[in-house]
Formats: sequence, C-alpha cells, structure tokens
Amino acid sequence: MDNSASNDNVKDKGRRRFLALSGGLGLFWLGAAAYPVYKFISPQPVPDPFGEEGRAVVKKLTPADCARPGSGGNGSIGNIGIIVFRTPEGELRAFTSKCTHAGCNVNFAGDKIVCHCHGGQYNLEGKNIAGPPPRPLTPLKVFEENGVLYVAPMEKTEKA
Ligand code: FES
Repeated sequence: MDNSASNDNVKDKGRRRFLALSGGLGLFWLGAAAYPVYKFISPQPVPDPFGEEGRAVVKKLTPADCARPGSGGNGSIGNIGIIVFRTPEGELRAFTSKCTHAGCNVNFAGDKIVCHCHGGQYNLEGKNIAGPPPRPLTPLKVFEENGVLYVAPMEKTEKA
C-alpha cells in the first residue's frame, strides 16, 4: 500500500469524525436552544382553583365583610377574581368578577354589580342588564364554614 494513500485515509477518518462531532454538537445546541422556546409557547395545564376538595377558600374577604344584607366585596381564589355579597334579602351569593364584555373586574354596588370599564351592569342574579356585557356572570356556590368563606363550582353544587 502506498504511504500517501494511507495518510489520505487517516485524514478522511479524522475529517469524518470531526464532522460527526460537529453535527452532534450542533444538534445538541439546537435542542438546548429550542426547548425553552417550546416550553414557553406550549399550552400549560390550568390548575383547578377548587382542587380535589372541590372548593376554595375566598381570599381578601371574611364572613364579616358579607354579614349585613347589602354588604360584600371583591375577593379571589388563586388568581381568579370573585365577588361575594349578601343580597338585601339576606342570601349569600358569589360570582366570578370577570366582566363578560372585555374581562375587567366588576364590583358589587349594593343593589347591582357594575363594571367601570365600559359601564356594564348586572343584577344581583348576575344577569347582564345594561351596557355592553353580552352574557351573565359565572355564578359560584358560596358558604361559610368555621369562620371562613368558601366557593365551589355551581355544577358540583347542583349534583350534591
Ligand atoms: S369590560 Fe365590562 S363593560 Fe366592558
């Protein structure tokens, strides 16, 4: 065998090994760069605010805040805004506070629920009665237990 042919063969092997290593590193780098982008744009599962118990503690409001007929206010469960109030007849009620028009927070105003973004209004049953909101608010079951306010989804209430 010719000595120069043997040298070419060794050089080819070295070149191939270098290209294979470069390709492998390139793929690794591409995967490392693409994974955070994939994690960012892929939809994340939304945690159930009611958990396994099927109910959630109302934050920022206590039973005392809703004790008198016509009293109430804005609270939250997780990062979901809610309103809880006692009607003039004494019934405790709760709704999500996201306006059905463009998602602003609604506020309890004694005899109605108002949205200050575009003047939307709801009655105390959560039905849209004035302004641009197209649908009623989402009702929640609300109850007090050991001095704590809880809310639960209405579907579970109706089955229970
Ligand atoms: S967001 Fe409530 S009226 Fe527009």
